[in-house]
Amino acid sequence: MKIKTAIRGQFLDIQTLVQQPEDISGQVRHIEDGLLLIEDGKIIWFGTWQQGQQYLTEQFHVEHYPEQLIVPGFLDTHIHFPQTEMIAAYGEQLLEWLNTYTFPTEIQYQNKDHADRMAKIFIEELLKNGTTTALVFCTVHPQSVDALFEAAQPYNMRLIAGKVMMDRHAPEALTDTAEQSYQDSKALIEKWHEKGRALYAITPRFAPTSTPEQLDKAGQLKAEFPDVYVHTHLSENKSEIEWVKALFPEQNGYLDVYHHYGLTGKKSVFAHCVHLEDSEWNCMHDTDSAIAFCPTSNLFLGSGLFPVQKAWQKQVKIGLGTDVGAGTSFSLLQTANEAYKVQQLQGYSLSAFEALYHATLGSAHALDLDHQLGNFNVGKEADFVVLDLNATCLQQLRQSTISNIEDKLFTLLTLGDDRNVFATYVYGQKVYQKS
Ligand code: GUN
Ligand code: ZN
Repeated sequence: MKIKTAIRGQFLDIQTLVQQPEDISGQVRHIEDGLLLIEDGKIIWFGTWQQGQQYLTEQFHVEHYPEQLIVPGFLDTHIHFPQTEMIAAYGEQLLEWLNTYTFPTEIQYQNKDHADRMAKIFIEELLKNGTTTALVFCTVHPQSVDALFEAAQPYNMRLIAGKVMMDRHAPEALTDTAEQSYQDSKALIEKWHEKGRALYAITPRFAPTSTPEQLDKAGQLKAEFPDVYVHTHLSENKSEIEWVKALFPEQNGYLDVYHHYGLTGKKSVFAHCVHLEDSEWNCMHDTDSAIAFCPTSNLFLGSGLFPVQKAWQKQVKIGLGTDVGAGTSFSLLQTANEAYKVQQLQGYSLSAFEALYHATLGSAHALDLDHQLGNFNVGKEADFVVLDLNATCLQQLRQSTISNIEDKLFTLLTLGDDRNVFATYVYGQKVYQKS
C-alpha cells in the first residue's frame, strides 16, 4: 500500500535557480493556504488548498498547520559530526584550535560505542533544527562513518558523509596512510553510497594534512567513482594558506593543489573560501565546484568575511554551512542571521529571500541535489520544516508589528533558532515534533 500524506498550511519556497540575487524575489512562491500531497516520500501535487482539495481522497492522512510557516528542509553544506561535543571552545584561530581542541576530541571516535552515542545526538540535533540534509565530516576512523549512516538510516535522511583522509601533521591516532585511506574509503563507498538515501563524500581534511601521495589516491578514487562527492576545506585562514603554499611549492596556490589531483568538479564542495584569489574564483567557476559559506565559524575563528556578491559575480555555487564545532550553532536560521551581518560588513544587505534561497534551493544546487531537493516542485523528495514564527515573547511582539512575508521571514531568520522548529519531515514522514 502506498503511504499518502497531505499537508495543509502556509508555504514558502523559491521556485527555480537564479543567476543573480535580483531575480530571487520573482521566484518566491508564497501560498497562504496551500496543500502539499505526498506519496511514498515524493511530492505528487502542490498548490492552493482551494485547487487541491479535489484530489484529497480518503486514502490521504491530512495534517493541518494553520498557524505556522512551512518551508523546504534546510540543507547544511558543511558540518563535522565528531565536533558536536566541542562546540564553543575558547580563544584560538584555526591551526591552534585544531591542535588544542579538535584532534583530542576526534581521537575518541575510534571507539564505536562513543561514535554511536554521538551520532544519535548529532542526527537528533540536525532534525530539531530543521536540517534535513547535510554534508558531513566524520573522523579518520571508518567506524565513525558507519555510526553516522546507521544513526541516520531509521529516519531515511539524505545525508552525505565520508571518512577523513589524513596522513600527516596530526596525532598518530588520527592518521592513516595514503594506501589505507584509499582502501577504507573505497570499502565505505561500496557499503554506503546510494544505500537508501545515503551518499558518500571523499574527504581529505585539507591539503596540509595529506601528503601528495594521499591526494593522488583521493583523485584516483574520484576517477573510479565519479558519482561520489569530494568534500574538503579551502582558504579559510591566512596562516593556513601560507602553510599550503610552503608545503606545495610546485602548485600555483591552494586551490590548484586540489585541482592538480583531480578533486575539483560538479560534486566538489569546498568549505570557507574566505580568501580566494581571482584565478581561484575562475577555477571554481570553470570546474563547477561549490562553496560552503560558514559565517558563524568564520566569525568565531576570526577567519575573515566571505564575499557573497563575488560568488554571484563569478557564478560560483554557494550553500550555507554551520561548520559545527567551529560554527556556533546547528541552526540554519542562526547561520542566516550571521550571514546577513557578514555581508553588512562588506556593504551588501542580504535579503531574507536570498537567505532562504541559500539555505534551501541554493544549497541543494551546491550539493548537486537541486533535482531532488530545495523546494516543493512535484517529483521532489518531501523534506520540509514547519516553523513557528512566534516562539518567544519578543518574536511574538516583533511579528505582531509586521504583516508582509518578507519582513516576517527576515525577523524569523534574525531572531530564530531551534525554538522555532515546530516539526520536521523527512521523505514525507514526521521525524521531529517540538514538545
Ligand atoms: N580545516 C581543517 N580541518 C578543519 C576543521 O575541523 N574545521 C575547520 N573549520 N577548518 C578546518
Ligand atoms: Zn569544517
